[in-house]
Amino acid sequence: MHQITEDVYYTGVLNPNMRVFDVIMRTEYGTSYNSYIVRGSEKTACIEAAHLTFFHSYLDNLKEILQGKSLDYLVLNHCEPDHTGCVAKLLEVYPDLTVVVSQAGSIYIRQIANNPELNIRVVKDGEILELGGKTLEFRSAPFLHWPDSMFTWLPQDGILFSCDFLGTHYCEPQIFDHRIAYEEKYWEAVKYYFDCIFGPFLPYVRKGLDKIEDLDIAFCCNSHGPVLTREGLLPEVIRRYSRWCRPEVRENKLIPIFYVTAYGNTELLARAAARGIQSVLPGAQVDLYNIIDHDLGQLTAIMNECDAFLVGSPTINRDAVAPVWQLLGGIEAVNIQKRPVAVFGSYGWSGEAVPHLVERLSSVKAAVFPEQFKVNFVPAEADITAAAAFGESFAKSL
Ligand code: FEO
Repeated sequence: MHQITEDVYYTGVLNPNMRVFDVIMRTEYGTSYNSYIVRGSEKTACIEAAHLTFFHSYLDNLKEILQGKSLDYLVLNHCEPDHTGCVAKLLEVYPDLTVVVSQAGSIYIRQIANNPELNIRVVKDGEILELGGKTLEFRSAPFLHWPDSMFTWLPQDGILFSCDFLGTHYCEPQIFDHRIAYEEKYWEAVKYYFDCIFGPFLPYVRKGLDKIEDLDIAFCCNSHGPVLTREGLLPEVIRRYSRWCRPEVRENKLIPIFYVTAYGNTELLARAAARGIQSVLPGAQVDLYNIIDHDLGQLTAIMNECDAFLVGSPTINRDAVAPVWQLLGGIEAVNIQKRPVAVFGSYGWSGEAVPHLVERLSSVKAAVFPEQFKVNFVPAEADITAAAAFGESFAKSL
């Protein structure tokens, strides 16, 4: 049994063997599904549930703390199934449980638990739930990292239940930050987690930090990884979040060109466009990336951080080629809005790659340059000149 304060207990489950999370994240150091019991004099609340796979361990932990007493509330700071997958089963054990969620969370949890009888209490920003000598205060924190996300603050104990925020996929066989054995690996996991989970929502990270600025947090009881403490790693985690959520201001524009080339023709256009851009913006950093020659994760990071970018693809089977789609699959839709993007490519028969890429980029609300540039088969000298002019026009539009 892990006790955090006199009336707050850890009831989470460790999963050191997990190696992939949410299909796309590698989790080299496993994870934990953190959950907590808060005991008031009148009511008892559980903050967060657990992954369905670990329901029995989670239930054992709950029962150990509850010792046969009732559980009144289940607070779900957000409803992703790693924290809610077992809610339907939990309700079989505690059918009178009231599920406490945000408005958006109420929609999600009904679908996740598939239970029309679900007893739900929707809480708004600033709303309070009294447990008897313990007060849960709710602060909405949308897009950290789901629309329904919120924080729960327990002022009597100085505990912030921060959901995924300030957490990480990292698992050691103890729960507090001051007992971490491999701190370097922990920080590596924190950065990777931040990039994957919160990188797409940087403006919301800034708002989230503002939202907890006034709190004197003794314990940050997050949903994954070690519980953070005021005397331990919490101040440094907050410092790093503050830095990472404010991208550095660059003196010169970063305008990468991503392309794939089947017979060298799209590459000729890429090089000509780069010359055109640099003739207008001589200080700009215009790097050319043949997508198949680079690490996709690194290219994705560059694409999401740059000031503007170009993407070029040949047309094969009436479409852009797979590596280009893979790159665009990593677009951070929130951050990419209004980002200037230009599209080009050489084609043999019909040239659908360019319009398809325009459609995709428009759908994520990038500012797609209205001139697209297509050349049939091998670019002639006039085409190369036109590709450079295309680069110039794009640069002038920035
Ligand atoms: Fe840990 Fe967003 O769930």
